Amino acid sequence: MAQDKIVFCCQECGYESINWLGQCPDCGKWNTLVEEKVAAPAKHKANNTRVAGAPQTLAEIKSIETDRIATGIGEFDRIVGGGVVPGSLVLIGGAPGIGKSTLLLQVAQALNRQGAILYISGEESPQQIKLRAQRLGVDSEQLYLVSETNIQQVIEYCKKLNPKFLIIDSIQTLSEPDLPSAPGSVGQVRECTLQLMNVAKGYTIATFICGHVTKVGEIAGPRVLEHMVDTVLYFEGDAQHNYRILRAVKNRFGATNEIGIFSMQEKGLIEVLNPSEVLLSERNEAASGTVVVVSLEGTRPLLVELQSLVTSTYLPVARRQVQGLDYNRVLLLLAVMEKRLGLHLGSQDVFVNVVSGLEIDEPASDLGLVGAVASALRNVPVDKLTAIMGEVGLSGEVRAINFAKERVQEAAKLGFKQAVIPAGNLKEAQALKNKIDILAVKSIREAIDFCLKK
Ligand SMILES: Nc1ncnc2c1ncn2[C@@H]1O[C@H](COP(=O)(O)OP(=O)(O)OP(=O)(O)O)[C@@H](O)[C@H]1O
Ligand SMILES: [Mg+2]
Ligand SMILES: [Zn+2]
Repeated sequence: MAQDKIVFCCQECGYESINWLGQCPDCGKWNTLVEEKVAAPAKHKANNTRVAGAPQTLAEIKSIETDRIATGIGEFDRIVGGGVVPGSLVLIGGAPGIGKSTLLLQVAQALNRQGAILYISGEESPQQIKLRAQRLGVDSEQLYLVSETNIQQVIEYCKKLNPKFLIIDSIQTLSEPDLPSAPGSVGQVRECTLQLMNVAKGYTIATFICGHVTKVGEIAGPRVLEHMVDTVLYFEGDAQHNYRILRAVKNRFGATNEIGIFSMQEKGLIEVLNPSEVLLSERNEAASGTVVVVSLEGTRPLLVELQSLVTSTYLPVARRQVQGLDYNRVLLLLAVMEKRLGLHLGSQDVFVNVVSGLEIDEPASDLGLVGAVASALRNVPVDKLTAIMGEVGLSGEVRAINFAKERVQEAAKLGFKQAVIPAGNLKEAQALKNKIDILAVKSIREAIDFCLKK
């Protein structure tokens, strides 16, 4: 065996350097380079693949779209694009204790009749998993559990059992003994994922890989991992509530940014079927500074409450505090309001918050934000059954948004009486005018005059 070489490897992006550097030249992160030993390339890699190398025409290649396997957990199926694709690699990242193992166990139960499932745990003993399984009511006869951290052994199990599904809990505990670096390091994570990918594609095993996230909310070695897998799901939580949001940030088989909402209960994760209703459930409808916007998460419109508080500042420079929206976007919109509406925000502290901990990063919420801040500043509440949507341009014009009809439809479904929409979207939304009143606006002034009339 060739002698071990030492490299410094960025734990974020996998960049390698022969010297230690304070900042990674590739991704720009600080203090991410860590010493790792690298060995000569492992010899066993080649024989894990079973796909024949002969080129085929498109017509010859079997379509996998028809083979999608629905778990029956609706929120989960939607996020992965309508069911699990055989042989695909799905990465599920989330903070410690958020419920990754719970979700995977429930998915295993839901896949019960579809084929054998091999659950590899590097963190818990089979007894511990059984305890959880009993609490969740999981009793799948085709679920095989094993505690294992050696990737070669995992591959042996796969060859022996030939399961249809493989669950790895978690990728950071797996290691390749031929590699001298520590489990969880970028080198190990990358090597193990590569081997899992070969097995998954070669033997058509749908593989779910669970990964821990670092303090900044990224999966350890995220970029290296995200490139290799087909689908990346992030499991996020809301500390005050029991809600858990599963979000697809990358998907080779479906829409990205699709979200599924669950509530964590003793019996496990329960799907939330009417998320907009839940998100709006604690609304104080009479207060000024709150509006409802319709945000598109993947393919689904969601009604979300935006809150704003505007108070005279005691500081030389007024504060802007933003949660759930893009900070710079908010500054820009405040500047547009100052200039185009003549509002004096320079001497006011402005706080903005998206209720429920959701992050909205689409411009369709611009007009809602303008409405919320104007309402807070003037202390006039916006009608509680009005939903607001629209992108705002620098001259204070309201621009058309995508999927306006779907958004208006969702508002109507939840009993909203009126929707304020961009004039450019009037034509498509017109079809819904017998369900909900539609006010099409061209400028923020028009929108504000309408929303804040007493
Ligand atoms: N009896 C219970 N009733 C309700 N919720 C529970 C109960 N037991 C555990 N939970 C929930 O399950 C969560 C832990 O779930 P799980 O072990 O699946 O998380 P994880 O993401 O796999 O964690 P880890 O990072 O430790 O692997 C707890 O944070 C808690 O919210
Ligand atoms: Mg776990
Ligand atoms: Zn880097």
